[in-house]
Amino acid sequence: MKKILISTGGGDAPGLNAVIYAVVHACYRRGWEVYGSRSGYKGLLDTDELVRLGLEDVEDIYSTGGTILGSTNKGDPFATAIVNLAGEIQVVDVSDKILNNFKRMGFDCHIAIGGDGSLEIARRFAEKGMPVVGVPKTIDNDLEATDRTFGFDTAVSTATEALDKLHSTAKSHDRVMVVEVMGRDSGWIALYSGISGGADVILIPEIPFDMEKVCAKITNNELHEKDYAIVVVAEGAVALGGQVIDKGEGELGRSEVVLGGVGEWVASEVRLRTGKDTRSLVLGHLQRGGSPTTFDRLLAMRFGAAAVRLVEDGIFGHMVALASPHMCSVPLADAVKSRKKVDLKSDKVFTAREIGVCLGD
Ligand code: F6P
Repeated sequence: MKKILISTGGGDAPGLNAVIYAVVHACYRRGWEVYGSRSGYKGLLDTDELVRLGLEDVEDIYSTGGTILGSTNKGDPFATAIVNLAGEIQVVDVSDKILNNFKRMGFDCHIAIGGDGSLEIARRFAEKGMPVVGVPKTIDNDLEATDRTFGFDTAVSTATEALDKLHSTAKSHDRVMVVEVMGRDSGWIALYSGISGGADVILIPEIPFDMEKVCAKITNNELHEKDYAIVVVAEGAVALGGQVIDKGEGELGRSEVVLGGVGEWVASEVRLRTGKDTRSLVLGHLQRGGSPTTFDRLLAMRFGAAAVRLVEDGIFGHMVALASPHMCSVPLADAVKSRKKVDLKSDKVFTAREIGVCLGD
């Protein structure tokens, strides 16, 4: 008999509920108990935020977006920002309290589902002695240690569908449509959706872009009697000699800046330099919402079941990962060491170039 804690941390991604579903079912079959901690680690700070998860609580959730446990990307237990009684912002470390509560409540393992930030927190808890198993999640697909993270396929499908729809309106008005998609450090969503959605230009963080090249591609389209263009830009893409554009809205307790604005910047440059009617839109959190695709559901359930097998085998401080076609495990320390970037020598990048897509260089 084991008592398992499960949590979801960081930005949500389609497939989180499918992981929870698989963990609860795999534990039930072993006669183990599962508890969910709401909003990351809140359940280990306040027992009201802890929920017992039985089969009836997870029925049908595998097909739904979001997370039944809630999530946060502001809750680093090692550096929690609070406003003290004097109204000042104070950073406190509540990790000891969390670890003590974890032990006092008799948990045998914590299955932490998260992206790089949440898995780094999980690694630090593992270092402190908490038996942890990580599950990789992020729509950005930027975790090096796994072939894929769940959520990515759904985000790409959403972005591709949006591009398909934008083609007709762009064509009707002879316009340039600039679409900003997510991707802080890596251009996976931009590249996959841009190729699949017939973009003329794809700008990714891995290739600093030259606006002259971007505009040359747009005007070159006209030589071929194509009077419109679709430009996909990842939120973390940077112009040559420029810098990442953020919203300048610092959020209390959040370590990373809130990105956004590069799409509008690219659109205004295109308008200025080509004189073309140009519009921009930000797909934003649409990419994080909705029902997971079949690929993401299956991957998420495989991750959940594999995580429970790791617990059974007593392999802690590891993250489950996809090494196609197999499930494997990697030490959490390796999992968070570096970000997975788009390989500029990969066939996907070659494909983009060969079908005439401008990558801004
Ligand atoms: O890491 C996933 C991600 O979707 C990024 O692409 C994006 O920059 C970030 O989360 C946005 O997070 P939020 O708006 O939830 O703070």
